[in-house]
Amino acid sequence: MIKISPSVLASDFSRLGEEAIKAEKGGADMLHLDVMDGHFVPNISFGAPVISSVRDKTSLFFDVHLMISDPLRYAQDFAKAGADMITFHYESDSDVRETLSAIHSLGCKAGIAVKPATPAQAVIPFISEADMILVMTVEPGFGGQSFMADMMPKVAAVRKAAEEAGKDIDIQVDGGINDKTVISAARAGANVFVAGSAVFRSPDPAAAIGALRKNAEVKPVG
Ligand code: DX5
Ligand code: ZN
Repeated sequence: MIKISPSVLASDFSRLGEEAIKAEKGGADMLHLDVMDGHFVPNISFGAPVISSVRDKTSLFFDVHLMISDPLRYAQDFAKAGADMITFHYESDSDVRETLSAIHSLGCKAGIAVKPATPAQAVIPFISEADMILVMTVEPGFGGQSFMADMMPKVAAVRKAAEEAGKDIDIQVDGGINDKTVISAARAGANVFVAGSAVFRSPDPAAAIGALRKNAEVKPVG
């Protein structure tokens, strides 16, 4: 199932609640919330109190992307703030299996993200335990970067491994997704599309979400 997850990183932080409502009314399936600690990535965004402040403004599914060094330590804070899914990085300092199980025991879905330099083989062993694999299509840390088309074989490898394991897992792509790049990501096997600039910097976010969804519905090649 195709899901569009607008990233609030590109939104107007002074009006975060209204921006979330805009995404919801525009037909988004999830709201992507990028948490950066200035240590795992060279940038600082926002933390659990900010997520908590928008929780009652929308009923959208909260897709929280933790770009932080110690996700295991903070998972509970994000669950309490209203996260529905917590995605953490394979490259973080926390143990992957322990973090997946901590997130699940907090009642949230759990995703594992991989940076561009990390191969598909790193996350394939966790496919049966994770709800989602996030294949980064830019270096994490900043919005507005260009899509890395060379990540598509990684998406395809994760999809193939999931099919072989009989698991209909969500595969998310994040970074540089627009109405053109979404097509190659969908063809490679991704079904959850994060888009910051393409949605919130558009004069018509609802139309932008609609175009992403329509273009993601491409038939796979072959
Ligand atoms: C980058 C973040 C992304 C970012 C995407 O580190 O994880 O979610 O908001 O922004 P765009 O869609 O503008 O590339
Ligand atoms: Zn993100």
